Amino acid sequence: MLITLEGIDGTGKSTLHAALAGLLSDLHPVFTREPGATWVGDSVRRAIAEQTDPVTEALLFVADHAAHLATVVRPALDEGRIVISDRYIDSRYAYQSVTLEGIVPEPLGWLQSLHNGWTIVPDHTFLLVMPVDEALSRLKEKNGREHFERKEILEKVQKNYLALARKDPSRFVIIDASLEKEEILQFVAKAIRQFSGSSRSRRRR
Ligand code: TYD
Repeated sequence: MLITLEGIDGTGKSTLHAALAGLLSDLHPVFTREPGATWVGDSVRRAIAEQTDPVTEALLFVADHAAHLATVVRPALDEGRIVISDRYIDSRYAYQSVTLEGIVPEPLGWLQSLHNGWTIVPDHTFLLVMPVDEALSRLKEKNGREHFERKEILEKVQKNYLALARKDPSRFVIIDASLEKEEILQFVAKAIRQFSGSSRSRRRR
């Protein structure tokens, strides 16, 4: 079973991801992330830091995804493990739809066609949502920020995420990221347990 955590920067996704490891250890999930689960992620980090052109950056994110699938996600799913990824395919759909605006004619369609046929669609996606100002205030100093971490960009990214969730309501669980950290953690951990129980009983049938 493939679970993904998504949301704009500052929503507490990575903290949640790390905390889930403690609560779900008996299920032996594989915790992983995009970008950066493989060496391709180093090129992505460099592309982000150097602000290379948006098409190059988008294709590097896709390359990182391909390597991530091949070396981490697919082998773990083949073993029947639960995989929990901090960011995954929807990050591309939400962020690169913004960075490619005006550069490729239909960014979302272009990005989806780049993934179709070889990617693995998550079974469940937790989308953390909060007002952009609140998310930004949780991020580090302005000059230490990545180029995505600007209000006008993140407003659009969050809108894109919500549109993706509307189109696929059975996959997405929307979480109010302004709630207490502990409350979110307990809710998500419980939901993952329920999902894993029902996917096991489906397999038995
Ligand atoms: P991430 O490593 O999650 O952020 P942080 O460095 O704060 O832990 O991701 C780095 C940035 O890359 C983040 O702003 C989101 C962006 N991103 C994309 O634009 N597209 C993608 O496909 C992915 C995976 C991330």
